[in-house]
Amino acid sequence: MGKDSMKREELRESLGAYLDLIDEAEAVIASTTYQPKEHDLSTIIDVLAPPPLDLDSIEGANLRVLQAMVESCTKCRLYEGRTMTVFGEGSVPARVMVIGEGPGAEEDRSGRPFVGRAGEYLDTWLKSIHLERGKGVYIANIVKCRPPNNRDPQNDERAACMPYLKRQIQLVKPQLILLLGRTAAQVLLETDEGVGALRGRYHRYEGIPTVVTYHPAAVLRNTDTLRRPVWEDLKRVAAFLGIDLGRRS
Ligand code: URA
Repeated sequence: MGKDSMKREELRESLGAYLDLIDEAEAVIASTTYQPKEHDLSTIIDVLAPPPLDLDSIEGANLRVLQAMVESCTKCRLYEGRTMTVFGEGSVPARVMVIGEGPGAEEDRSGRPFVGRAGEYLDTWLKSIHLERGKGVYIANIVKCRPPNNRDPQNDERAACMPYLKRQIQLVKPQLILLLGRTAAQVLLETDEGVGALRGRYHRYEGIPTVVTYHPAAVLRNTDTLRRPVWEDLKRVAAFLGIDLGRRS
């Protein structure tokens, strides 16, 4: 066992013993609250003694390691044109994980998801159901590098990036996933159906309830037709999360 792994094991034993010893309903260690009877120590151990970077193992990666893997990824041609990778950001664990298609020009420049016009519009959607990015919301994309001229990501590019997203979803542990647009819906739900056929009901991705709606960029292009169905979909998200929207229609 390497030095880092030994340190992590020692920490696990000492913390476990400490939590067993104290006679309190909960203990706060490094800003995280633990219930001694139910403690899962992995989060705090990752904070106090981060695991060594293993750039080959997506399955064992935490978010920090996963992001480092994405930043050095050359698995498909999209890495050639990127300025920055756009890993995703927000709350962990999340109430909602919003998943779009892939970075556009502004996201590629900033390294952050949904910061352009579509992103500003997405913020208003979240606000309409009393949510906010970073406050219970995590935002990511199917591909983490910008496709040239904002074309759709191709099948091999989607497939190359999917293991990162799959692990990211496991780590973000959302209560619900909101898929924006055809690409996100088709890739995650492994279907050829369009948004019109997929929206209006709950799906499941790896057991997580999943709602499909139109992409904000599409709604900006076709507001009169798409605004109403998006609002219905957002109400479905709010209903699942138990968010009271009052008497709005
Ligand atoms: N469109 C997307 O699908 N994702 C982004 O991050 C920005 C625009």
